[in-house]
Amino acid sequence: MSGDKSAIIPIAQDVLRPGGVQAEHILNLWHGTLALCTVVFVLVLGATLLALWRARRGGLQSAPDVSPLSTPEVGPRRAVTWAAVLSAVGLAGLLWADVRTGSALAQLPAEGALRIELTGKQWWWQAVYDDPQTGARFVTANELHLPVGRAAIITLRSDDVIHTLWIPNLHGKKDLIPGRATEMRLRADQAGVYRAQCAEFCGQQHTLMALLVVAEPPAQYASWAAAQARPAVAAEGVAGRGLQVFMDNRCANCHTIAGTPAAGQGGPDLTHLASRQMLAAGTLPNTRGHLGGWIVDAPSLKPGTIMPATPLPADQLHALLAYMESLR
Ligand code: CUA
Repeated sequence: MSGDKSAIIPIAQDVLRPGGVQAEHILNLWHGTLALCTVVFVLVLGATLLALWRARRGGLQSAPDVSPLSTPEVGPRRAVTWAAVLSAVGLAGLLWADVRTGSALAQLPAEGALRIELTGKQWWWQAVYDDPQTGARFVTANELHLPVGRAAIITLRSDDVIHTLWIPNLHGKKDLIPGRATEMRLRADQAGVYRAQCAEFCGQQHTLMALLVVAEPPAQYASWAAAQARPAVAAEGVAGRGLQVFMDNRCANCHTIAGTPAAGQGGPDLTHLASRQMLAAGTLPNTRGHLGGWIVDAPSLKPGTIMPATPLPADQLHALLAYMESLR
């Protein structure tokens, strides 16, 4: 299902390559911490080498050195005092940098921000968009789109266990906690496709709980959002038969396709499934073959998933796939 998969470059999942202002704040803190720790490491190593050099191992004939027992150790005492003072100053500096970073993260200007409610599920992500600028409201899954240069406020929730949203190129980690809403404010400043990952062990398929974040120019975002807000196009011909297969095989118990009678809530909204790059939360590329395999035997591809195996006769499967491919 290639079609209009955005031509935006995939960017390596990497905290050292910030694509937005929040990740830059965090990277600056990391650079400062690394620099200070490097200085401390070099000083400690230097002091150790100096101590070894000054108090070499004696030979069998050398007299025992008991001088420190009777004389006050002015030098070492002074050195230890200085080391303690410098350590305290260094730690206070790190604390100060940490607090400053925290307040910088909290001060992201959020006027006119896009609002997204992201819910963690075992093991996928549901996103509900609510755009105060356009009034668009729609549901999607496993792929966020963000307009470059505009803040987004993401409300984080969980329906089952604790998950953690981590988009290394855009922000640090934030937990999704059952029964409580948390919030992440971020802004993508560079276009790109960023990979996010659940970063809290949340069950058998924790590793296969990824999320793509597509940061794109505002005009491109606007056309994506407008398309997502529309119901699915009417299915005709083979695709029409595919919709019937979808309804006859209980797929609609779990999945919603806006514009059809399918209104299940247990699984991802499929209204625009074909517009997404990946299937099953970053598990598989969204191609006809992978989608067919996923429908026929999801539990063997992602053991533990609640998506049941649905072996279908070939003609029904082809009709269903034709329908799924029409959901752009
Ligand atoms: Cu969700 Cu790990």
